[in-house]
Amino acid sequence: MIKKPNLILIGFMGTGKSTVGRFLAEKLNFAFVDIDEIIKRALGMDISEIFSRFGESRFRDIETEAVKAVAKKKGQVISTGGGVVLREENIVTLKKTGFLFCLTATEDVIFERLKYSKDRPLLQVSDPKSRIKELLLSRMPLYSKADYVIDTSSLSVREVTEIILKKYEELINGKT
Ligand code: S3P
Repeated sequence: MIKKPNLILIGFMGTGKSTVGRFLAEKLNFAFVDIDEIIKRALGMDISEIFSRFGESRFRDIETEAVKAVAKKKGQVISTGGGVVLREENIVTLKKTGFLFCLTATEDVIFERLKYSKDRPLLQVSDPKSRIKELLLSRMPLYSKADYVIDTSSLSVREVTEIILKKYEELINGKT
């Protein structure tokens, strides 16, 4: 059986990639794959520990390896870490296997969703709100490389899922 192209979710931390991804996978009857979860399982550590023990650059190497491994299969919903776009190579690899959907949200919404999170090492700073703003600004051009961008700020998970499903069907049927 020929499997359908992957549906890949990219976007900043706290935009709902993993939650929406699980819903999408269920609806499409696809496998759900979360790159951060693969990394955590492989190393037996959470993301903060990986950052503190090995540094961000090593984390990015491991992330790129995980992307390559996951991209070997089709018929999957793939949720990526927010920084996956930092390496052009990852985008190229993922685009070859399917369609990229970018979830966005305003900095205030992201801050509210993540203010109690302890496993976002990049936001463990004295002023996380400014950090979010700064990272969002610098990454926006990278996130906009997606096939489709959706602002989740005022949408429910169900609504986001429906919009993406519709767009995914259009994309695989060649209607852009
Ligand atoms: C990161 C996002 C995180 C995780 C790591 C780095 C980033 O994933 O990969 O903390 O650089 O934006 P989520 O987007 O799932 O939080």
